[in-house]
Amino acid sequence: MTTLIINIKELLQVRDSSILKVSGAEMAVLPTIKNAFLVIKDKLIADFGSMDNIPKIDNDKTIDATGKIVLPSWCDSHTHIVYAGNREQEFVDRINGLSYEEIANRGGGILNSAKKLNETTEEEICQQSKTRLEEVMRLGTGAVEIKSGYGLTVDGELKMLRVIQRLAQNYPVTIKATFLGAHAFPLEFKENHQGYIDLIINEMLPEIAKNKLADFIDAFCETGYFTVEETQQIMEAGIKFGLKPKIHVNQFNSIGGIQAGIKYDALSVDHLEVMKPEDIEALKNTETMPVALPSCSYFLSIPYTPARAMIAAGLPLALATDYNPGSTPSGNMNFVVSTACIKMKMTPEEAINAATINGAYAMGISETHGSITIGKKANLIITKPIPSYYQLPYAFGSNLIETVLLEGEIFA
Ligand code: NIG
Ligand code: FE
Repeated sequence: MTTLIINIKELLQVRDSSILKVSGAEMAVLPTIKNAFLVIKDKLIADFGSMDNIPKIDNDKTIDATGKIVLPSWCDSHTHIVYAGNREQEFVDRINGLSYEEIANRGGGILNSAKKLNETTEEEICQQSKTRLEEVMRLGTGAVEIKSGYGLTVDGELKMLRVIQRLAQNYPVTIKATFLGAHAFPLEFKENHQGYIDLIINEMLPEIAKNKLADFIDAFCETGYFTVEETQQIMEAGIKFGLKPKIHVNQFNSIGGIQAGIKYDALSVDHLEVMKPEDIEALKNTETMPVALPSCSYFLSIPYTPARAMIAAGLPLALATDYNPGSTPSGNMNFVVSTACIKMKMTPEEAINAATINGAYAMGISETHGSITIGKKANLIITKPIPSYYQLPYAFGSNLIETVLLEGEIFA
């Protein structure tokens, strides 16, 4: 099956296959081709270029993109899409003055979601998660990482990871799975942290590895959750089982999580709302991708990741949604890109780089996703007719996506 897209007003994020991430000043550059064509063959990008030099193509299907922009689909490298129910009540409690921390301390927060998850059947969790996944796919997400972490029991964590596996098998979107057993301490382990860590290491991890249910290992390294030392134990154990670290750090406090991530060669360190100068310094000259989650900052009214200081220091930056029931009940990457521009002062070029190629890197898939490159997956967004790509962040809240192609086929 060969599909030809013609008359593309502007084709964004055209890259050589050697570019796996962009850092510092490079982030301000978004290579494009105006008045372009693109050929899709057998799920992959087979060719592209200027309409002036379009070769003769024996195609089965033609899409006319006159006035429209084409870009690689969003790569959302941090989500918790698999969960049960919602936390609407906590949202209203926060409006009425309680803090996220106070709600968690009363047994709400992550433990509230864990209770719901363990009371819900695998089938029901799968149905709820499918609805969320289909929604984000229609919003242009073509690759997504999904975490466990609302089970906090052997059965609950395995249940979540099996649901992630089923989603991956049933949808054309690319899915990477992360084991986040170290998301919070269950109440029965409140005074026995080592007991829960031992459960993760001795019972959860071997079962997960045996059934190939995860690609990455995560922990919530934060005051009141997992200390740096506890996080390190989890990372070491995960690495022994072949899982690469990708960790929650610096959401509310800077306690050394970034340095721990770097020590274990984490693929990414995520959140980064609270950054000390030494945290930025530590990330220099490493292979670890910093990931910002601006929808979480927005929803919780906490600081935004200091993107300008990080980019000025030469660092790369990726953007992701953090879609979860407590801190970010939204999986809309278009909103993330807009919010990064509006609140973090990233330029449209930087934000699009952060949400495509750098997001792909933060999932370990930038050799196959995240740019318009011959041989990469034909996961593409075709916009409605728009004046320029600035419109994507500018018209915040509008849905400017007309067509989503996944593995070369129209999904929506
Ligand atoms: O990334 N910070 C830790 N975990 C999630 C939120 C968890 C929750 O509130 O359910 C996050 O924001
Ligand atoms: Fe998260």
